[in-house]
Amino acid sequence: MDGVSTVPGPAALPFAELHLHLEGTLEPDLVLELAARNAVELPFADVEDLRRAYAFSDLQSFLDLYYANMAVLRTPQDFADMTTAYLARAARAGVRHAEVMIDPQAHVARGVPLEAVLEGVDEALSTSERDHGVSTALFAAFLRDRPESEALDVLHHLLGLHAPIVGIGLDSAEAGHPPSDFARLYDRARAEGLHLIAHAGEEGPPQYVVEALDVLGVDRIDHGIRALEDDALVQRLVDEQVPLTVCPLSNVALRAVDRLEDHPVLAMLDRGLNVSVHSDDPAYFGGYLDDNLAALTTSLGMTAGQRARLAENSIRAAVLPADRRAALLAEISRQER
Ligand code: ADE
Ligand code: ZN
Repeated sequence: MDGVSTVPGPAALPFAELHLHLEGTLEPDLVLELAARNAVELPFADVEDLRRAYAFSDLQSFLDLYYANMAVLRTPQDFADMTTAYLARAARAGVRHAEVMIDPQAHVARGVPLEAVLEGVDEALSTSERDHGVSTALFAAFLRDRPESEALDVLHHLLGLHAPIVGIGLDSAEAGHPPSDFARLYDRARAEGLHLIAHAGEEGPPQYVVEALDVLGVDRIDHGIRALEDDALVQRLVDEQVPLTVCPLSNVALRAVDRLEDHPVLAMLDRGLNVSVHSDDPAYFGGYLDDNLAALTTSLGMTAGQRARLAENSIRAAVLPADRRAALLAEISRQER
């Protein structure tokens, strides 16, 4: 920390960040700093060289770099530094509550103990409200392109460690890896009283959104934009007000949507879907929550009213104590007057 408070002034509209992969916040300069700290060899000469690699053709091309860069994360201090850098930036973006995911399997598979991951992440999260004015919650996301049995083992280990997680998610390569493959994992997490979220309908078909709801019983869908291909599903999502955590810059960077000008998020909002806007992997996709909102203003002419509804939806869909939720919603309605 540079000693300058990042707690935002009272005028900023409060948002909850609900779709954020902590490992996706590794900015190129931090990747190189941690590589030097841990003597990890990377195939990049310098920051500019690495920055050039942050250009993708689809989800898998991004995931290849995302997992490769994780090699620099080795110690609790590395995880704490990554998390602290994100929280400071999130505060400047207007985020007042952040629900962040980690990918435990990606670290265990590299020989980094779960204890080290949790120690570093938790150190940063537990001081976030004091240092940045951002309350936090942690989700463990499981990799859908690895076997469910491995996910069950890792969940068991997390529970044994009393990991400070509020819920589980499902991420990584979507096509060909339906939610229904993870029914037992979600049953186990539900029995533990955990919140349930899953990526669905990012690159995968609308049917994966249906499975995430009906087989996994999720509370929220990460992305969900391909639900728009199925009118009956859209009507169901409207009727049930299922929260969809949509990530515009991510969708354009990974070519799920051609151009920001074509992004459906504001049309979804106006159709009565319960959407909110998030940043997914901000270091890789061109920006944080404020950058996503600015892009919607510039490219789609987002109005102040739409912006306030996105803020409100994000707070309503968050895992928050009732009094904090009410206080944040009251701030939004005061500013709308
Ligand atoms: N892991 C990190 N970012 C992801 C994304 N956008 N989709 C699926 N898995 C991810
Ligand atoms: Zn994601």
